[in-house]
Amino acid sequence: MIAAPIHFPFCISMSPKTPLLLVALLLCLVACGEVEDTRPGQPVARRQQAFKDILRSFEPMGIQLRTNQYKAESFLAHARQLAAVKDAPWAHFGADTQYPPSKSDDRLWQEMEHFTTERDKFLQAVDALQVAAESRSVEAARAAYAPVQESCRSCHKRYKH
Ligand code: HEC
Repeated sequence: MIAAPIHFPFCISMSPKTPLLLVALLLCLVACGEVEDTRPGQPVARRQQAFKDILRSFEPMGIQLRTNQYKAESFLAHARQLAAVKDAPWAHFGADTQYPPSKSDDRLWQEMEHFTTERDKFLQAVDALQVAAESRSVEAARAAYAPVQESCRSCHKRYKH
């Protein structure tokens, strides 16, 4: 369905500009849904990217546990990767950084102390997960994975749309 509007105008006039216009339109279809962060330093874009990096290392561990395909070395590599990226988002929640495309809730800035508590729970859970992963025991990994997941959920519930 998304591709439908492309055909209509361009199939009629095949000028030499057509490929460029097509590319522009396609890019627009991909990007126009999202607001770009144009502020200096791009704090919103940077914290969102940092959370994506967190997800990218976290998710494969969950898949291994849910599908009973625990691989100790690979799990450990992801746990280490998560520990390596866990600190990245937090510096980008400065004052005056609540604007589109932020998905944060306004109350985050009114409740910085509680937000920081949620963050610290996450950081500790990530460290514990790495320790568990080092033991190469699937039971330990499973037990330590849950609190990390709970810390994402708990913070998102209150502070992310
Ligand atoms: C202490 C709070 C907190 C914790 C802990 C937390 N997040 Fe988030 N997360 C947020 C907030 C706030 C946003 C919204 C950022 C924004 O758009 O301003 C967010 C956004 C995201 C996004 C969306 C990024 C985007 O592109 O819009 C992903 C994915 C994400 N978090 C994954 C995770 C995962 C996975 C975990 C746990 C392993 C986690 N987060 C832990 C607060 C948290």
